[in-house]
Amino acid sequence: MRETSRAGREQRAKPKAAPEAATLLAWYDVSARVLPWRARGGAKPDPYRVWLSEIMLQQTRVETVLPYYAKFLARWPDVTSLANARQEEVLSAWAGLGYYARARNLHACAKAVVAEFAGAFPEGEDELRRLPGIGVYTSAAISAIAFGRKATPVDGNIERVMSRLFAVEEKLPAAKKTLSRLAAEMTPAIRAGDFAQAMMDLGATICTPKRPACAICPWMDVCIARARGDQETFPRKTAKEEGKLRKGAAFVVLREDGHILLRTRGEKGLLAGMTEVPGSEWSAEYKESTKAAPVAGLKWEKTAGVVRHVFTHFPLELTVYRTGVAKRMRAPKAMRFVALGALEDEALPSVMRKVIAHALEIERKPKGRRK
Ligand code: ADE
Repeated sequence: MRETSRAGREQRAKPKAAPEAATLLAWYDVSARVLPWRARGGAKPDPYRVWLSEIMLQQTRVETVLPYYAKFLARWPDVTSLANARQEEVLSAWAGLGYYARARNLHACAKAVVAEFAGAFPEGEDELRRLPGIGVYTSAAISAIAFGRKATPVDGNIERVMSRLFAVEEKLPAAKKTLSRLAAEMTPAIRAGDFAQAMMDLGATICTPKRPACAICPWMDVCIARARGDQETFPRKTAKEEGKLRKGAAFVVLREDGHILLRTRGEKGLLAGMTEVPGSEWSAEYKESTKAAPVAGLKWEKTAGVVRHVFTHFPLELTVYRTGVAKRMRAPKAMRFVALGALEDEALPSVMRKVIAHALEIERKPKGRRK
């Protein structure tokens, strides 16, 4: 709000010139972020690397992706090796990166590229979009970045850049079409991949949601919102309803020889096929109880606080119960005891890593200090 009223006082003259792709490309030539999937010094991009990075970057920040990208590339240096991997290996290498349908689709896509295209990714957006896990944005990104085709990927960052550059008053999500058209109209026939990545870099490093660094923006002089001084108020958005809070219980069973009780989630839905500790359903109506405990007759210790996690469509709060059991205890049906030292090999999503860390944290604290 403060920014808006200050902006009001800072009105500048309307820009006289229209923004040009060439200005952004000249900036990109000197300011591009050095990222491992980007070809350097005029080298040809490797479509496998571009595809792998684009799938990982869906809804995920560059810094988060970097170690995963390095791990995948070291383990599966090309599409054939990834196609030949076992799904569980791919899922556990992906664990922690979130949105796990991506990992299953990644594997399915590698198999399809090998089976249907002899290991060579197709170049066009339409063909790419027929592959698992590749939607409108990713097909445009791969087509432009890996093959230099004239295509325009438009994500949230690029929508923000366009909305400010042209001071688009229409609200998101309805404005998506307009913003995509504006970006497409600016896309050059040559260097479309660099243009796309330059827009991504601009959105990530300069045209940020808060406090954009307009003073060093290559499009500063041609940005309409900047001229008006209300750049931070773009893009305009329709107020969206937050997903309703869901709650549930998670049960951490620790065997005295350092094993923990785990199970695999079903094949469909959220976190499908991933590993978890046993627990209750997650619902808005959940009331604290040990009804959903995996073994009857055990004495459960309720740990202090809750584990919070935010999924795309809802926030979650889990109450964590823990118990210790004897070495002779057998795992119930469809569950297994796994050594704590072997958890790295499990496809444990972030929320479950938090649950286990929470339970083990209590374990490590001396009894007197437990709250
Ligand atoms: N986000 C999505 N794709 C990207 C890319 N190629 N470079 C930087 N950020 C990205």
